[in-house]
Amino acid sequence: MKMILLGPPGAGKGTQAEVLSEHYGIPTISTGAMIRAEIRAESPLGLAAKKVIDEGQLISDDIILSMLQERIKADDCKNGFILDGVPRTIAQAEAIKGFADIDAAVSIEVADEIIEQRLGGRRECPKCGATYHTIFNPTKEADICDKCGAALTVRPDDMPETIRKRLKVYHEQTEPLKAFYENEGLLAKVDGTGSISEITEGIIKAAEEIK
Ligand code: AP5
Ligand code: MG
Repeated sequence: MKMILLGPPGAGKGTQAEVLSEHYGIPTISTGAMIRAEIRAESPLGLAAKKVIDEGQLISDDIILSMLQERIKADDCKNGFILDGVPRTIAQAEAIKGFADIDAAVSIEVADEIIEQRLGGRRECPKCGATYHTIFNPTKEADICDKCGAALTVRPDDMPETIRKRLKVYHEQTEPLKAFYENEGLLAKVDGTGSISEITEGIIKAAEEIK
């Protein structure tokens, strides 16, 4: 399965990608997580990307595409992958068409009003990448990752003003991808407001129907 997860910031792409990756036994590729790892490592790319991410803007297509193309070549992607947060522009989608045969693009649909509440309570594990929510998906012990025991962090781009900017960027640059994948016959829309497991079921069903 080569699946793209589309949807606004806070739609649950990362949360669902984690579950789907276990279900299908294939890796998740999150360009956002890859960039955050570069920022933590203080690499030249990370240092340049930090300002862009913190302002809620997009990283350049060239950087994202070379990162993605390199990652997809790895052995663990032989049987497929879940793309979380990529593509985000029509240019990225066009380029991906040239190097990967996508089976389904699933749009997780969540209204803007719900997003702020979700991102306000998000906690992320800097070590293993697991995502939680203080109310909707809490850890057993407050602010400690259930999976690896690391201390959880808040993402710097989850400030209310940055969330609004990210939503604007989503509507302007990423939402048109729904029409793009509709034209390709690959688009499925799934309601992103139920429980995490209900949404996973909806995604699997929709993706299998398209594939
Ligand atoms: P990225 O990391 O991809 O962030 P994003 O798209 O803004 O999405 P989020 O990670 O914020 O949300 P999500 O949909 O993964 O939701 P989550 O599962 O965490 O990108 C970050 C930045 O990197 C971008 O702004 C850009 O600068 C750059 N970038 C990355 N890729 C790029 C690209 N291709 N091109 C250019 N730039 C790029 O869920 C959110 C919260 O809700 C969590 O707390 C979760 O526990 C909770 N939750 C999940 N599901 C439910 C549910 N069903 N009910 C209640 N709560 C739920
Ligand atoms: Mg995410």
